[in-house]
Amino acid sequence: MKVILTESYEESARKGAEIILDAVARDPGLLLGLATGETPVAIYRLLREACAAGTADFSKARTVNLDEYVGCREEDSYRRFMDENLFDGINLDKSKITIADHAADPAGEVVRLRAFFGANRVDLQLLGIGPNGHIGFNEPDSELEAGVHVTGLTESTKRANAHWFADGAVPDQAITMGMGDILKAKSILLVVKGESKREVLRGLLDGGKVTTRNPATFLLLHPDVTVVTERSLTV
Ligand code: F6R
Repeated sequence: MKVILTESYEESARKGAEIILDAVARDPGLLLGLATGETPVAIYRLLREACAAGTADFSKARTVNLDEYVGCREEDSYRRFMDENLFDGINLDKSKITIADHAADPAGEVVRLRAFFGANRVDLQLLGIGPNGHIGFNEPDSELEAGVHVTGLTESTKRANAHWFADGAVPDQAITMGMGDILKAKSILLVVKGESKREVLRGLLDGGKVTTRNPATFLLLHPDVTVVTERSLTV
């Protein structure tokens, strides 16, 4: 695992954007795995700026998102987040976007997305990490699912994400890529933002142990993971 320590979130975002832009430049038709939430906001802003400046070209790229809420309002959906933060600001062909539909029958979406991951391998997967160690919405549990599935959200995750919802009511369920789907990505970029991640980050960086109680520790099993984090979170 390669660890890049930075002095600020802005610097982490610049490193993250650089890694993504470099991957797109090397392989314009790549399949990018994307995350939502606070962590990628500045990364996506930098990707939009690169596109506007003509230094990045997403026209041949494909994307797939880690997760989506089940049954939320359209304005609270991760699809809306992605449109506003990235998709509407880069020259991506929108027919090449794969993301669960928040309004569709979740069982049908699981079948559709399992077929997608059966036929496709992510080239570069961007991840954030939850304060409880979740990646995607693979929440800490006694066992973890390998493939795309519907999951209940823990109270800790609902609390952490409530500020995104006008009424504060986070849906009880989400559809998420499974741990196996994430670990099948050719390379993984985990960006860690925020004081609340300190403990789970320590489990990943110092522990040397893989545990379903901190799903991010499964990244220790992957041969090509880059972690970008503020130095202050590691001391
Ligand atoms: C989002 C996702 C989650 C977030 C994690 C961190 O698509 O899969 O695992 O990456 O909850 O969220 P933030 O970045 O808001 O701290």
